[in-house]
Amino acid sequence: MPPELEERVMDYTKKKLSAKRFKHVERVVATIEEIAAARQLPVADCRMIGWLHDCAKEEPRNVFLSLVHRGLIYVDRETMEQPNLWHGFHAAHIGRKVFGIDNQALLEAVSYHPTGAPGLSAEGLALFVADYAEPGRPMAWTREIREQACQNLVAAAKRVCQEKIYYVLKKGKKLHSRSIDFLKSLSAEGETLPDFSGGHGNSGISDDPGEGTGRER
Ligand SMILES: [Fe+2]
Ligand SMILES: [Fe+2]
Repeated sequence: MPPELEERVMDYTKKKLSAKRFKHVERVVATIEEIAAARQLPVADCRMIGWLHDCAKEEPRNVFLSLVHRGLIYVDRETMEQPNLWHGFHAAHIGRKVFGIDNQALLEAVSYHPTGAPGLSAEGLALFVADYAEPGRPMAWTREIREQACQNLVAAAKRVCQEKIYYVLKKGKKLHSRSIDFLKSLSAEGETLPDFSGGHGNSGISDDPGEGTGRER
């Protein structure tokens, strides 16, 4: 990765986002860096996808739709019905077109950061976890998840996936099948899915960590 790329992506994102959302992005970058260092992942790549992941979150929906209609972004029908998931695909497109990123694993990490997806790379798991568990999130258990991620990234991703699914079901929102597929892929074969009828009395999600969970963006 060219050394100046990270700075270019950071500058781009800073221009595109509100100050409050950019602060979230800064915390995601710090968090993914910690996880990457602990899990011996390429730190520069992880920081770069941290900067990129939400860069399109404040783009008007018609910009995304126009890219889809022109065949420049492909998303499945189920994702088309959940606009809160679009910004990951839009950000990956920007990564490709504006910054020339061609590492498919990194682009997929960005595309799927709200829901996760089966087959996600370790960098993708790190972004999925860092986005949910950065220290600005209101949930009481994010520190535990950050610490767990530094020991066992798959277990931490599984926990985050479970928390997100629980949150969506509790809110009566629409669950994307990719979330379930992701959870199944992280679970040992044959293991039954967790019971979501109990769980936390309060998910603690109040700002936008519920993205990927059916919330409006
Ligand atoms: Fe996001
Ligand atoms: Fe984010």
